[in-house]
Amino acid sequence: MNSKDQKVLVSTFEKEVSEGLTAFPKYLSSKFFYDEVGDALFQQIMELPEYYLTRAEYEIFEMHKSDIIQNFDVSNKGFDLIELGAGDGKKTKVLLQELLNQHYDFTYTPIDISENAITGLVKNLNTEMPKVTVRGQIGEYFEVLDRLKHISDRKKVIMVLGSNIGNLLHPRAIQFLKRLCNSMHVGDLLFMGFDQKKHPQKVLDAYNDKSGVTAAFNKNVLARINKELNANFNLDKFIHWETYDPESGTAKSYLVSKEKQTVDIDNLSLQVHFEAWESIHTEISQKYDDDIVKWLTKESGLKIEKSFSDQHNDYKDYLITKVE
Ligand code: AVJ
Repeated sequence: MNSKDQKVLVSTFEKEVSEGLTAFPKYLSSKFFYDEVGDALFQQIMELPEYYLTRAEYEIFEMHKSDIIQNFDVSNKGFDLIELGAGDGKKTKVLLQELLNQHYDFTYTPIDISENAITGLVKNLNTEMPKVTVRGQIGEYFEVLDRLKHISDRKKVIMVLGSNIGNLLHPRAIQFLKRLCNSMHVGDLLFMGFDQKKHPQKVLDAYNDKSGVTAAFNKNVLARINKELNANFNLDKFIHWETYDPESGTAKSYLVSKEKQTVDIDNLSLQVHFEAWESIHTEISQKYDDDIVKWLTKESGLKIEKSFSDQHNDYKDYLITKVE
C-alpha cells in the first residue's frame, strides 16, 4: 500500500469513528476490528470450540471439494479464482490443493482489507503451494469490486467465505450482491458461505465464548482508537454484550459502558460522553435460511444453482450465477 492510500484509510477511520461516537445510539463498524491484533484474535476465534462456522465450512470443503471445483470449471477452459476477505486462507487451501491435484488451469487472487493478512497469505502460499499463481490485493470490498472487472477476460469465480456477508444487514447485502453481479459476466460464478439459522443458544455461544476471546476482539476496536487516535478508553469499563433475534436471524455485538464516563480522543479533538449502561453497537452477524438467500440473490439479479451443507446443516455454501 502506498502512503496516499494509507492516509485515505486513516482518514476513513477518523471520519467514521467521529461519526459513530457522536451519533445516538453510538456505533462503530466491525471492519475496524482487523488490525494486526484483531487478525490474531480472529485466528483464535476460529479455533474456539463455540465458533462452529469455520469448522463447518472446512467440513463442507473436505467432503465436497471434488464436486465444488468441478462446478468452478465445467467447460474446462481455465478460470480466475478471486476471494474477497481471504484472511489466512486455511479453508481455501483445501480447494487450491484439490485444484492442483486435478491439474486445473487457474489463478488465485485473494483480496482482504488487512494488509497484514494478504502479505502473510501470499508468502505462505508461495512456500506451501509454489505452483499456484497468486496475486494478492489489499482493499475494502466495495472499493475492490470495480478492479475485478479488469482482472482478466477468463471465467471468474468469486468466493466470499466465512459468512462474511453476514456483517451486512439485508439492504446492504443486496447492494453488495448487486455490485458483485455487475462485475460478473454471464457464466461467471459466485461461491458464497451463509451461516444458517439454528438453535439460538448455539449462535449466542459462538459470539460469547467462555474464554473471552470474542470480548477481547470486540474491545480491540477501542484499543485501536486508543493507539491510532490518541484516546484514553479504559477497556475494563466496558463489557461485551451479544444478542440474537431468532425472528430476524440477526446476532448483534455491543460494547456497554459500565459507568458514566468521558473519553478523550485527542486526534479528533473530541470528548465522548457515556451514560452508565450506554452502548456502542459494533457488529452484525446475520444468520440465513434457503428462502432468505433465494430472496437476496433474486433481488440482486442472481440465482442459486446449488448448495453444499455440513452434516448438521449449521452452514451452507451456495453456488450462484448471474441471471441472463
Ligand atoms: C468474519 C464476519 C464472519 O461475524 O461470524 C467472529 C466475525 N465476530 N466473532 C462473524 C466475528 C465475532 C465473523 N465474520
